[in-house]
Amino acid sequence: MDAAANNTANEGPVGGAARTIAFMNQKGGVGKTTTTVNLAAAIAAEGRRTLLIDLDPQAHATLHLGVDPGDGPTVYDALVEPSGVRDALREARPNLDLLPATVDLAAAEVELAQEADRNRRLSGALSGLAGRHEFVLMDCPPSLGLLTLNALAAAREVIIPMQAHFLALQGVGRLMETVRAVGQTVNPRLRISGVVLCMHEETSRHTREVVADLDAFFEGARGTDLPWRSARVLRPPIRRNIKLAEAPSFGQTALEYAPTAHGAADYRALAQALIREWDALRSRRGGGTEVVVPGAPGGMKHAGARAG
Ligand SMILES: Nc1ncnc2c1ncn2[C@@H]1O[C@H](COP(=O)(O)OP(=O)(O)OP(=O)(O)O)[C@@H](O)[C@H]1O
Ligand SMILES: [Mg+2]
Repeated sequence: MDAAANNTANEGPVGGAARTIAFMNQKGGVGKTTTTVNLAAAIAAEGRRTLLIDLDPQAHATLHLGVDPGDGPTVYDALVEPSGVRDALREARPNLDLLPATVDLAAAEVELAQEADRNRRLSGALSGLAGRHEFVLMDCPPSLGLLTLNALAAAREVIIPMQAHFLALQGVGRLMETVRAVGQTVNPRLRISGVVLCMHEETSRHTREVVADLDAFFEGARGTDLPWRSARVLRPPIRRNIKLAEAPSFGQTALEYAPTAHGAADYRALAQALIREWDALRSRRGGGTEVVVPGAPGGMKHAGARAG
């Protein structure tokens, strides 16, 4: 299968300095962290400067990368004091920076609750890192609280990890509506670029039927002004692979722990597809020096504006 062809949407994500993606699904255990970590690692391994932001107080992404934040500053500190974001950055791997989390992050929800700019703290922090990274991937917690809102405010794209058997078509529609409703309050230009199918069992007939339904659902949104009008089922899907579940306990990505297993291969292929798509978009947009506002008539351009 040609992943690049499948992943090249008409409108694609938004051009700009960094491809900034929130991996979000309020449902727990669907593969958000596994996807964010292994995709970030695979993109970094392709030589692209990548930032992974762990926005989950469970700190699973941080643990997955084997990073121990100790007493040092974390994403919590960056939310409380966005101007200090650089101090919280860790070089987790070559080309891969991490804004780590600890359980303390849970306190941010309460501590920032009264602040007028509480949902834009991460956006503020990221503006202090402008130009450092080409890809920014955010691992969201399984809830729609302040941390997820900060991700949706800072991102230009949402990718939804899910399982083909988990949600019927109606469930996906509800999920898209939720992102739209939430996104509208904090970031009207936010776009859903697709779903990544995790723990995929392609031999199951039921799975194939659900994927066909998903494809049709997204096709039905083409030409509308819905935030998922250019969304699609990202290819390849990520097959169920035990190595993906084992790798975190060693503090390793799947690419390190089992580089030849299906899990690593699928994330590598998906990373390459996202990179090809991004490169194609940037070359169409003239090197990414302009941000094209999605949905604006004629693709209104703002020279020098920042993505994210
Ligand atoms: N493709 C896969 N094959 C096998 N196991 C997988 C796969 N993807 C994820 N898992 C396992 O499924 C479990 C849930 O995955 P993960 O932690 O990535 O989900 P999540 O959406 O981040 O969960 P939470 O909502 O708690 O943050 C983990 O044990 C993970 O190792
Ligand atoms: Mg998670």
